[in-house]
Amino acid sequence: MRIPFIAGNWKMFKSRMETVDFAREFKQLYKDTDVRTAICAPYVHLDTLKEIFDGTQIKVGAQNVHFEDMGAFTGEVSALMLEEIGVDYCIVGHSERRQYFAETDETVNKKLHKLFETSIVPIMCVGEVLEQREAGIETEVVKKQLRRGLSGIEEEQIKKLVIAYEPVWAIGTGLTASPLQAEEMCGIIRNTIDELYSPQAGDGVIIQYGGSVKPANASEIMNMPQIDGCLVGGASLKPVDFMEIIDF
Ligand code: PGA
Repeated sequence: MRIPFIAGNWKMFKSRMETVDFAREFKQLYKDTDVRTAICAPYVHLDTLKEIFDGTQIKVGAQNVHFEDMGAFTGEVSALMLEEIGVDYCIVGHSERRQYFAETDETVNKKLHKLFETSIVPIMCVGEVLEQREAGIETEVVKKQLRRGLSGIEEEQIKKLVIAYEPVWAIGTGLTASPLQAEEMCGIIRNTIDELYSPQAGDGVIIQYGGSVKPANASEIMNMPQIDGCLVGGASLKPVDFMEIIDF
């Protein structure tokens, strides 16, 4: 039985004051549901969110992490530092990091290994760009990201993993993959986990869809059998919209 999981990805949005306002309003709106809920915010706001959401079911995530414990890595933050302030989730390999910050399947892999040494649950992002979909190679691309990104990760750890399928052409563009396109790729991802690990591992892994998820399309997406949740960018910035998605 897979528990639905909806996470917001704030990207580089919100001042401290806006974060506090959001968190207070969202906490008021939030009703305990069977849907696991998290907000992945900029590093500087994680502590604030943890404090305001304390005692609720609302979890907090980071959007990136470094793969070493400590060292001369100016500007970086380690998994241990995130764990110390109680961060629950961490996005790894988001397409914006692959595109603008030289994230590769190899760095994704190192970050996953590091996070699995902590209590933080990784949300591993995969997805093809438009040219790859137009060339009909999206399945190969996503399978390769999974194979390389998960290299050396044990079956026991897969039980803790969340995978987010985010077709890059659908992120922030208003273009959503059709629920059937999303469903199909999430099924392929599940089969790939079957092949790499076992049918039980495939059956248990939580797979999210991300890319222009909004209150208007959330229920159709969430009702797809292979899709267990959503990674929500723009629509997670407004408490009412995000709550409507969780209430799909
Ligand atoms: P979007 O972003 O919902 O704004 O398309 C999704 C994401 O990048 O995680």
